[in-house]
Amino acid sequence: MSKSHPVPICRSDQLAELGKWCFSVLYRGAPEPALVVRFNGTVFGYLNHCAHMPRTLDCERDGVFDPSGRYLQCSMHGICYDPVSGRSLSEICLDKSLTAIKVDEQQGWIYLIDKHARLEPSES
Ligand code: FES
Repeated sequence: MSKSHPVPICRSDQLAELGKWCFSVLYRGAPEPALVVRFNGTVFGYLNHCAHMPRTLDCERDGVFDPSGRYLQCSMHGICYDPVSGRSLSEICLDKSLTAIKVDEQQGWIYLIDKHARLEPSES
């Protein structure tokens, strides 16, 4: 079995605190939107799918953090998520979570290291 190399998603300086970087992955064989966010200096990766309905968190506005900067928030109906665990903190989707994807930040780059996800070329 060959060991795959980590794939760069973006440069560290392209992801500011409370910022997002969107990209596409093949996740368990299916194309999915994904994003990385930076919270308290640490990078977290998730599939960009709200747990409530099949919408991206940023479907209605550009940002993915709530005004306090403490929670990820879906722009469709306002469900809030813990940025660290991806767990919903809102009553209608309590006990549901965003799907986390493993990422790593090293030497000025953010890498996809999730064995279930492969970076897809972006459309543009
Ligand atoms: S679709 Fe995200 S909160 Fe409803």
